[in-house]
Amino acid sequence: MYLGFITTLQRSKFFNSVTIMCARTSSDMTKFKETLKSAKNVVFLSGAGISAESGIPTFRGDGGFWRKYQASALASPGAFKDSPSLVWEFYHYRRVVAAKAQPNAGHLAVAKYEAKHTPEKTVSVITQNVDGLHSRAGTKNLLELHGNLYKTRCTKCKEVLDNTDNPICEALANRGAPDVNIVGSDIPVKDLPHCKNNKCKGLLRPHIVWFGENLQPEVLEKAGEAMDKCDVCLVIGTSSVVYPAAIYAPQAAARGAIVAEFNLEPTPGTPNFHYYFEGPCGTTLPKALSD
Ligand SMILES: NC(=O)c1ccc[n+]([C@@H]2O[C@H](COP(=O)([O-])OP(=O)(O)OC[C@H]3O[C@@H](n4cnc5c(N)ncnc54)[C@H](O)[C@@H]3O)[C@@H](O)[C@H]2O)c1
Ligand SMILES: [Zn+2]
Repeated sequence: MYLGFITTLQRSKFFNSVTIMCARTSSDMTKFKETLKSAKNVVFLSGAGISAESGIPTFRGDGGFWRKYQASALASPGAFKDSPSLVWEFYHYRRVVAAKAQPNAGHLAVAKYEAKHTPEKTVSVITQNVDGLHSRAGTKNLLELHGNLYKTRCTKCKEVLDNTDNPICEALANRGAPDVNIVGSDIPVKDLPHCKNNKCKGLLRPHIVWFGENLQPEVLEKAGEAMDKCDVCLVIGTSSVVYPAAIYAPQAAARGAIVAEFNLEPTPGTPNFHYYFEGPCGTTLPKALSD
């Protein structure tokens, strides 16, 4: 299963209404809390919105650009092939921003809920985020669908390694400024991060699932299992347009699981969900998850 924006065909199957963003008022929080109490399998499905209050831009709106480039256009194998230097500068910038950020009240509420209710409930967190903030908040049962900014993969021998070095290589020191007037990127490929295995020495890339690439089968399988058995799913800060995560919650709702959405505004998925809590999830989530 590949990563991509959801197509019209997929939309028509899973969404009753995609063109009309319905006006919807927030649901009854007390009623949702009662439902959550009796749940045995709970899934949190998060997107970039949960990290927005930590100062990490989402891909929608103004935050979706780095220099003159649409961020999603740089998160692609084609962009890396055209200019590994430019894409590494972009990811160096994102690594630095995320490293400086702190988990916010939303991440912390999710981690606290898991710690408090495990093992009496199975609590899973499936995230599209690559910033590592869920695990820094203390979440244990975590599936990172799109990889992690602090992992590299060798383009030759495919070895995946953790890497929190800052900068990740000398040539990237003081690079990655988001200024719109900076054009191109000129770091020679030999100076970009390379595999430390002497027999290989291949070019490293961020261990991120880019648009148009396949998700890791084992992660996909585990996420599918968690979604199949959940009785309550909380969809947090995701625009519900990036496939495959975008179909998880509508599918769960269609088979009878209770789905609650936490977002600043309605999304294409909203009409399919039982509950919708509007507002910054750093405020709404701690309320929904408190006793
Ligand atoms: N933090 C990160 O790791 C990060 C950041 C940007 C993009 N991405 C990647 O970009 C893709 C984008 O998909 P996506 O759906 O995750 O994000 P998105 O950028 O498409 O959508 C973000 C959603 O969050 C909502 N939102 C923003 N601030 C919020 C807040 N404070 N509280 C609640 N909701 C809020 C927005 O209304 C929007 O619906 C994913 O593949 C993801 O991997 C990740
Ligand atoms: Zn290698």
